[in-house]
Amino acid sequence: MTLPSPCHSIVILTGAGISAESGLQTFRDVGGIWSQVRLEDVATPQAWDRDRARVTAFYNARRQQLMDPAIQPNTAHLALAELQRRWAGDLLLVTQNVDDLHERAGSIAFHMHGRLDQVRCVACGADSPWIGEVTPQSRCPACDATAGLRPSVVWFGEIPHGLERIDRALSECDLFIAIGTSGTVYPAAGFSAAARNHGAYTIEVNLEATGRFDRRLVGPATETVPTLVAELLA
Ligand code: OAD
Repeated sequence: MTLPSPCHSIVILTGAGISAESGLQTFRDVGGIWSQVRLEDVATPQAWDRDRARVTAFYNARRQQLMDPAIQPNTAHLALAELQRRWAGDLLLVTQNVDDLHERAGSIAFHMHGRLDQVRCVACGADSPWIGEVTPQSRCPACDATAGLRPSVVWFGEIPHGLERIDRALSECDLFIAIGTSGTVYPAAGFSAAARNHGAYTIEVNLEATGRFDRRLVGPATETVPTLVAELLA
């Protein structure tokens, strides 16, 4: 395995592919979420304005799926948690995923597209942890209003969280790794180019090639990520 030398600072971006082998569907693979439901109907502010019940039902179902005992972190999530524990340099783990499998594996992940296990009150704007269904009667844990609790996820047309922090890390990293993401949704799709333009070495971990990277590990994340982590910690 070729790795940059010196390698002090790493940025890792994960996408739905890292959670696929845990039993969560990706968005754009065959049979993926966006082949079953139009994103315009459930993942935009306009969809929320048009039909809150539909949007709420979509995210209730995804939140409920996360609570299924069969859905557990896999060896890729666990390997990244070990890397985060043992890496002596800087490491920022950024995920586009709204699931909590990185946290359950023991990682601290930055959720640029928000989290399924949080809701945002349309009255006071507070984000609160949430387990279970949201209903029209649900009260905001922060202000007690029943004005409406939207999922605390970033929809198309909204600005992802923490872009300044991520940009800074990309400009300073020696190594950028993209795992299980199709590279179709910006700004995350531009992270590898941003890192490379600042001189970082870039690695893609995926079932297939999606873009320009210096190195590629092709295969299921549960096999390729533990291998890559072992190399990095060797
Ligand atoms: P996609 O569904 O677009 O892409 C999933 C990627 O994971 C594909 O490139 C697959 O080849 C790869 N993949 C699938 N199974 C894998 C496995 N076992 N091991 C390794 N790779 C695997 O998902 P994302 O790129 O995460 O945003 O999608 C980005 C954003 O689009 C999401 O955060 C979401 C979605 O719309 C919003 O909802 C705002």
